[in-house]
Amino acid sequence: MIIAVDGPAASGKGTIARALARHYHLPHLDTGLLYRAVAATVLREDLKPEREADAVASCGFDDLLLADEYLRTDEVGQVASVVSAHPLVRAALLQRQKRFALQPGGAILDGRDIGTVIAPNADAKLFVKATPTIRAQRRHAELKKHGVMVSLNKVLADIRARDERDTKRSEAPLLAAPDAAVLDTSFLSIESAVQKAIEFVEKQRAAR
Ligand code: DC
Repeated sequence: MIIAVDGPAASGKGTIARALARHYHLPHLDTGLLYRAVAATVLREDLKPEREADAVASCGFDDLLLADEYLRTDEVGQVASVVSAHPLVRAALLQRQKRFALQPGGAILDGRDIGTVIAPNADAKLFVKATPTIRAQRRHAELKKHGVMVSLNKVLADIRARDERDTKRSEAPLLAAPDAAVLDTSFLSIESAVQKAIEFVEKQRAAR
């Protein structure tokens, strides 16, 4: 079984994908980490994320980097959103994601274009969303917990900037696949959101 989970930044897609991976005993790939690794390499080498050649040169990153907590920072997330708009960067990371999706026994992937580009034939597709304000509040609370002091307004502005870039790019923009079940987590607890996600997956499997 292949499960595709897409959605904007801080929508809860990562939490839901990890919970589904545990529930169905499937290997899970957070594809955002790949773009974040490219971004971190661009930053480390002092290259320009807007320049496609610079971003492409950073696609051969060391896999050990994927475990680095630094990748999860907002700074890296913004740059990841910039490098991910380059078609050649997406092309460089495509096969790796497709291979992961097609491994025997199935897989779950989360990102922006899993249901549309990486695994269009997935057995179940979820599009996870929440209002920008609620996503900003969640992200703000999480940052505060980790001792990062930043205003809610700044977090909201960053989320809006990333949404804008991720949805407006011409190559594989953030978009719900026509056959994806839309899960709005705005007013759901994590437990209820996961419960709903499992229900959606079961419904889609039964309909196949
Ligand atoms: O999911 P995330 O916040 O870790 O993703 C970081 C950036 O990577 C996101 O702003 C856009 C890009 N991305 C993408 O273009 N396609 C994906 N499948 C996953 C992430």
